Parts: sequence; C-alpha cells; structure tokens
Amino acid sequence: MRKSIALAGLIAAAIFLTCYSSCNNKKSSSGTAGADDSLKKVIERGSYLANHVAVCMDCHSKRDTSLYSMPIIAGTEGGGAGFAFGKAEGIPGEVTAPNITPFALKDWTDEEIIKTLTGGINKKGDTLFPIMPYPHYSGLAKEDVLAIVAYIRTLKPLESTVPARKFFIPAAMFGPLPANDIAQNKIPDPSDKVKYGEYMINAAACMDCHTPMGPQGPDFSKAYSGGFVFDVPMFKVASSNITPDSATGIGTWTEEMFVSKFKNNSSAEVVNRKPGRENTYMPWSMYGKMKEEDLKAIYAYLRTIKPISNKVEKYPK
Ligand code: HEC
Ligand code: HEC
Repeated sequence: MRKSIALAGLIAAAIFLTCYSSCNNKKSSSGTAGADDSLKKVIERGSYLANHVAVCMDCHSKRDTSLYSMPIIAGTEGGGAGFAFGKAEGIPGEVTAPNITPFALKDWTDEEIIKTLTGGINKKGDTLFPIMPYPHYSGLAKEDVLAIVAYIRTLKPLESTVPARKFFIPAAMFGPLPANDIAQNKIPDPSDKVKYGEYMINAAACMDCHTPMGPQGPDFSKAYSGGFVFDVPMFKVASSNITPDSATGIGTWTEEMFVSKFKNNSSAEVVNRKPGRENTYMPWSMYGKMKEEDLKAIYAYLRTIKPISNKVEKYPK
C-alpha cells in the first residue's frame, strides 16, 4: 500500500520534472486538479527536506550571524552563502556555497542536478568538496531527491555569484565518490522507528558536525561523539556528544527532552536574542521545524548507537 503511494508520487515527480525542463515558460492549463495537487505535494516535500532536514537552504543562503543559530536572512534563499567555509570547518582551502536558485541552475538538467546532489560532480565536471553533504544525500530515495530538485526550481531567481573556491589539495584527494545509484534507495516505513530514524539522520547529515576531527580528517570511529570545534571570528563552539553515553552524551535524555530542545531552540524568542559569543553552529532554527515524528525517529536511532565517552566543553577558551 505504502509502496504504491510512493510510486504514484515518484511518477508525478518525474512527470513534473520532465515538463518543467521543457515547458516551464508556458502556463500549462491542461493539468487536472489531481495532478496539480500531487505536484504541490512533491514541492512541499522538497521544501520540507531542503529547509528542515537536509537543510540545503542553511548553507546556500546568507545568514544573520548576530542571532542565535545564525538564521537565514529573508530574501536570500538559495542565492549563495555570505561567508566561505575554510579553516574553521577543517577544510583545506576556502569554498562558499554557491547560488542554487534558477538564476544559476536554469541551464542544468534534472540529471545534472541529481548527479551533483548524490554523486558530488557538478555540471562543469568539478568534484565537490564533501562539506556539501553528497556522501549522505547518495542515501536518499529517488523520490526525495526529485522532490528537492522540484523545490529548488521554484526558488526566486537571485542574481548573485560567490567567490571561486580555492583548495590546497587536488580534488582527487577529497575522498571516494559515492556510487550515485539512488534508484535502489527506499524511505523506510516510519513504523520501523530506528530504521526510519537512520534514514532521516543521514538525510540531515548530523554526523558531519558531530564527529570529532582526527589528524586525517573526521574520525568516524567516534561518530556522533562531538567535540568538533568551530572557531569562527564571532564565536567558538564545540559540537556535543549525542551518543547514548550517560555521563558525557545524551544517555539520560528522554525522547521528550530531545524533541523539546529542538522546539525551544528554534522558537522566535530564543532565535531572536543576541547571544554574542555564546552562539552556535547547530542550525536549530532550521532543524527545529522538523516534524516531531521525524525527530522522535532520530532519537530512537541515536539510542541504538555505541555510547562513547567524550566530555565536550561547549564553549572552549
Ligand atoms: C553544509 C553545507 C551545505 C549543505 C547542507 C548543502 N550544500 Fe550544496 N554546496 C555546499 C558547498 C560548500 C558547495 C560547493 C562545493 C565545492 O565547490 O567544492 C555546494 C555545492 C552545491 C551545488 C553545485 C553548485 C555549482 O555551481 O557547482 C549544488 C547544486 C548544491 N550544492 C545544492 C544543494 C542542495 C540541493 C542541498 C540540499 C539537499 C545542498 N546543496 C546542501 C554546501 C552545502
Ligand atoms: C553545522 C553543524 C551541526 C549540524 C549539521 C548538527 N549539529 Fe547538533 N550541534 C552542533 C553544535 C556546535 C552543538 C553545540 C552547541 C549547541 O548546543 O547548540 C550542537 C548541539 C546539539 C545538541 C544539544 C546537545 C546538548 O548536550 O545540549 C543536540 C541534541 C544535537 N546537536 C543534535 C543534532 C542532530 C540530531 C543533528 C541532525 C539533525 C545535528 N545536531 C546537526 C552542530 C551541529
């Protein structure tokens, strides 16, 4: 049953995308109300993922660094970041998340965007640095990738460009590229909370910030144990240990505590205060609007991973 609904959605998305590429300048009047409805649902799903789960918009928009968790500045959605990722994020160089509005992607086919999102190679053939979380997005179901593509095609075109990237190492050293074979990926049934939570936590790339840096880059044997220090000019903050270790992680947290942390930290009251140097790199304002069901599934998954003892000082000197 679920399978057939998903399939219908996928077909609708495929039809839409084909049409979008070839006829997006014509106002189609031939579509039935039913087709419009499923198209709306696809874009809604894409918007949800791009803003509150995969948080594309977080990296690809300008952000207000004076407010808590650096929310997006309205009107800059998808127009490219306002600052470059570099040393503070452990990157061997500098790279600014580019413009992904239709101004920049209008000549890209859906296949080219999909290959960028899930395979790490853009239209020009450049290998992207994996701070763009394509190694995670390669685990997304095709219907979710199509929904994200459909959504970013609806962004207001913003005529902006970002500085070119500079790396001190060749792209061949960026790490292995994922297989980019998303046709096999499925969204697990939400009734299987742990499996579904694993899908969502991967889509949200939580691991990228919550894994400590070793001498060779992220130390995945300590995934989710935190301690990645973001040392930016405005503040300095370390990511938390979110493994179920009771003493140093979130082992004593209930599901309710976990969900309310996201809800509270994304409330207008908290986001709009000026935290000064006690700011955070964790995009609470985006993730905080994740559906409770999805946050609960992520919590359920996090209960099943290995507890790792790693005491993290949130605001290191
Ligand atoms: C953690 C930050 C981050 C997130 C989250 C992120 N991106 Fe990116 N993205 C980047 C950076 C940085 C680059 C440039 C990488 C490079 O050139 O090496 C990039 C590159 C791209 C490109 C290639 C653009 C070009 O001109 O080459 C596209 C398209 C893109 N991202 C879309 C997305 C979408 C869609 C999502 C969400 C599903 C997303 N990104 C999530 C940081 C991010
Ligand atoms: C861009 C980096 C980044 C990403 C992505 C990120 N986090 Fe965080 N997270 C942080 C930092 C830094 C902190 C510590 C400061 C704070 O509490 O805001 C933190 C704190 C937390 C805390 C609070 C723990 C405590 O002890 O108070 C939880 C829970 C959490 N993150 C869960 C997640 C989950 C789940 C995801 C994915 C949905 C995620 N994070 C993605 C950077 C990140």
